[in-house]
Amino acid sequence: MTKTWLVTGTHTGFGKELATQLAQRDDVNLVATARKLEHLDYLDQYDHGQIKKAKLDVTDHDEVVNAVEAANDRFNGIDVLVNNAGLGYFGTFEESDLDDAKYMFDVNVWGLVDMTRAVLPTMRKQKSGLIINFSSIGGLYSFPTLAFYHGTKYAVEGITESIAKETADLGIKTMLIEPSGFRTDWAGRSSHKTMPSHEDYQQFAEFIENNAEGAHHEPGDPVKAAEIIINQAMNHSNDVPAHLPLGKISSDLAIEKYTKLLQEFKDKRELSLSADRPEEAN
Ligand SMILES: NC(=O)c1ccc[n+]([C@@H]2O[C@H](COP(=O)([O-])OP(=O)(O)OC[C@H]3O[C@@H](n4cnc5c(N)ncnc54)[C@H](OP(=O)(O)O)[C@@H]3O)[C@@H](O)[C@H]2O)c1
Repeated sequence: MTKTWLVTGTHTGFGKELATQLAQRDDVNLVATARKLEHLDYLDQYDHGQIKKAKLDVTDHDEVVNAVEAANDRFNGIDVLVNNAGLGYFGTFEESDLDDAKYMFDVNVWGLVDMTRAVLPTMRKQKSGLIINFSSIGGLYSFPTLAFYHGTKYAVEGITESIAKETADLGIKTMLIEPSGFRTDWAGRSSHKTMPSHEDYQQFAEFIENNAEGAHHEPGDPVKAAEIIINQAMNHSNDVPAHLPLGKISSDLAIEKYTKLLQEFKDKRELSLSADRPEEAN
């Protein structure tokens, strides 16, 4: 059965790779979106009527509404929404530029929220749909100099898990994508950086520099990531993973964090229970 996918941020990186692979399938209608339509010219070679391009900055509500309307008008529904568009930002918590941090929240969180709220009525009407939200290992595990990026991605995790509980009976599923480093533009042009200026934070300069210099040398392959995501969504749509760490570093850190947290929760169990009123104890 043909499925209609709407993907945000398909100019570069994961979004471009997803769009390129989806455009070559005979069981997909694709709504590819980018801030500039000419950034989607690469799709023309695959287009035989199954591709709709839409100009979409996810921080622009009118463009969000128009993209969703265009998808519904052209393909009469939306089966898979991929909230991929996103930015990074490096800087210590104290020294970060809050305008940069707030803009990142506008894209990574509020853009995703706006897109999802625009698509949900279609999916509720269909009684089916899959929402794929790009989180990050940075939505599960925290590093220095990424406090605000983590803020956006932990927000995406919590929002998505809550949506999943609200829509489970409506035939709508969610999948969180949690990659570690992949060869895209994220660590380079898509992440503003504020180098530490205070001597107390100099030790973190190297971490920021290494991430910038490591851009496009990361272990993760976006081609393989896109194959995995499409395969999960097309072949296992009734049983998609709610969380999908991608890359060894992501898997290792997620397991490390949650194993440690589980042990901490168990170690503190008596203390935790002691906070309830005595009559609630059982
Ligand atoms: N690569 C990694 O290592 C990694 C790891 C974990 C999570 N992620 C997440 O993966 C997602 C995709 O990033 P990527 O790695 O593929 O990086 P990327 O190559 O930089 O791609 C990001 C895409 O988002 C688009 N975008 C940025 N702001 C936008 C806006 N306001 N409206 C619409 N589109 C916008 C960009 O469009 P322009 O070309 O117009 O700027 C670009 O096409 C992000 O959510 C990112 O946080 C990446």
